[in-house]
Amino acid sequence: MTPPPIRFGIWALVHGSRAALRDPDEPYDASWDRNRRLIQEAEALGFDSTLVAQHTINPHHAPQDQLEAWTAAAALAALTERIEIIAAIKPYLYHPVVLAKMALGIEHISRGRFAINLVNAWNRPELEKAGIGFAEHDERYTYGREWLSVVEPLMRGRTLNHDGANFQVTDYTLRPADPYRARPRIYIGGESEPARALAADMGDVWFINGQPIEDVTALINDVAARPRTGPRLRFGLSAFVIARATEAEAHAHHMHLFALASRDIEIRMVQHANTDPKSVMAATMRRTPRVGSNGGTAAGLVGSYDQVAERIVAFNQAGIETFMLQYQPFEAEMRRFAHEVMPRVRRLTGAAERAAE
Ligand SMILES: Cc1cc2nc3c(=O)[nH]c(=O)nc-3n(C[C@H](O)[C@H](O)[C@H](O)COP(=O)(O)O)c2cc1C
Repeated sequence: MTPPPIRFGIWALVHGSRAALRDPDEPYDASWDRNRRLIQEAEALGFDSTLVAQHTINPHHAPQDQLEAWTAAAALAALTERIEIIAAIKPYLYHPVVLAKMALGIEHISRGRFAINLVNAWNRPELEKAGIGFAEHDERYTYGREWLSVVEPLMRGRTLNHDGANFQVTDYTLRPADPYRARPRIYIGGESEPARALAADMGDVWFINGQPIEDVTALINDVAARPRTGPRLRFGLSAFVIARATEAEAHAHHMHLFALASRDIEIRMVQHANTDPKSVMAATMRRTPRVGSNGGTAAGLVGSYDQVAERIVAFNQAGIETFMLQYQPFEAEMRRFAHEVMPRVRRLTGAAERAAE
């Protein structure tokens, strides 16, 4: 099968640095101003997408700043022209009718560039301390599935009648509907069995945590083989990139970030205690030493410019379309990636296309 065209995205810095919180080369900054500048620059550099994660309180270290995802996504939509804006959403935090209305609003502001990333939560205090309660892992997915079955038709502009275990919606229609396409895109983030089933049944794109290519290939094979109505499911990968002129330099920076990250050990212990023990994502992250969130460097995008480009192409051949990337220090490494790795990937994929002709 011909691999899908590669798209590059960046994780917005909604809770500051991704690898280590105390880095003299990247002072902690989760502000709106930084994120505005960052996403505008990413767009100018040729990135196709940005993922704005959603946390009401900082999941790593509660006293630290946390950018609010949906207000930031709406503002980013107004300030950019081309880049896709994905805002994450945890179903327990918003009634689905309200969320569908907000998604359509940002779809209008962005002129057809908005997407939601449905995620079912791992950080207990965020929901518990709000009095919402933290349901058991699979129950959260059951709730999320019903929630999405309300959001999806409403985003399509359909009139909805829904009588379910959690929501009762009668003769409900949202206007204006989406004038750009059928509805905003739906990403699903999560690795457990109910997450995979949800992605196969109701997602447009499944986001996979960064991990070695054999594991990613097995996950894609599993989920792509499931019965499904509608267009083929697409795949995204989260990964932390360290690309340098030589493999040795990349390795040295990786070790430097490991050393910095080890200073956060007490913070990480609190985070570990707050994490749902049934989170498959957390289990995956424990398997391979790494820096960065959502798999981080476990995806192996650490090496020379050529090595990183070749590995990206290998993931693409396994079925990955969107690469949602992290760096540290973010701005400088993002520029380096755009200048050094993107052209190499383009050369490799161009050569593969010419060979296939
Ligand atoms: C690409 C990606 C993005 C995610 N973004 C968020 C987020 O913004 N907020 C959040 O609370 N969890 C986020 N998660 C974590 C999921 O909510 C979920 O808790 C986690 O994957 C554990 O579920 P699992 O057992 O199905 O893997 C994300 C997961 C992935 C793969």
